[in-house]
Amino acid sequence: MTTMHTTFDLFADTEPEQPARAEQIGEQSWLLRGFALPDLEPLLPALDSLLAQAPLRHMMTPGGFSMSVATSSCGALGWITDRSGYRYSPVDPLSGQPWPDMPEVFRELAQRAASQSGFIGFTPDSCLINRYVPGAKMSLHQDKDESAYTAPIVSLSLGLPAMFLFGGFARSDKTQRIALLHGDVVVWGGVDRLRFHGVLPIKPGRHPRLGEQRLNLTFRTAG
Ligand code: SIN
Ligand code: FE2
Repeated sequence: MTTMHTTFDLFADTEPEQPARAEQIGEQSWLLRGFALPDLEPLLPALDSLLAQAPLRHMMTPGGFSMSVATSSCGALGWITDRSGYRYSPVDPLSGQPWPDMPEVFRELAQRAASQSGFIGFTPDSCLINRYVPGAKMSLHQDKDESAYTAPIVSLSLGLPAMFLFGGFARSDKTQRIALLHGDVVVWGGVDRLRFHGVLPIKPGRHPRLGEQRLNLTFRTAG
């Protein structure tokens, strides 16, 4: 990867009250620092109520290991894994019911982050919620279970900080290390859609709002 750390103010002329800063981390990939901070008051209660309907749980990998991250979903499709493989399902396997609806505040935030990153008309039908407690991690992987790769991935981080690894198109490619903080959003799509990415083990700590955990929400067009 060439050096692509350009920092500038996306909102310089249009919305001076908006403090988010955009940092380019790939040809079509952006880190939007603090992007979600103004929306957390409606967003966090909506997250609490959907997690009451579809609780976080440790799913089984196809290889038979329990994931260190606990997951849930909202929207028309939810990402699941069990002994039969990784896939999207319209039904929560725990309840046999459809996943909770995607809250409007989630959808609107994801669309706005996508369009400010050059992806106009993003219509996510899936939001995967991952909870990391200290020590939990996500190995390098590509997001490949979606039916098409034309839509970007929009990722929102909440709670404890994480070291995000943003790599290339082969697992062994060099990775950028990006510290993701509460309220940060990362968007990758287009030519960068299939970049490998992962998360190093979360360090112990306590976040004033979310306690001893990190939550990550990834918005996708899956179907
Ligand atoms: C993921 O790739 O599904 C999660 C990324 C993150 O937790 O930041
Ligand atoms: Fe991913």
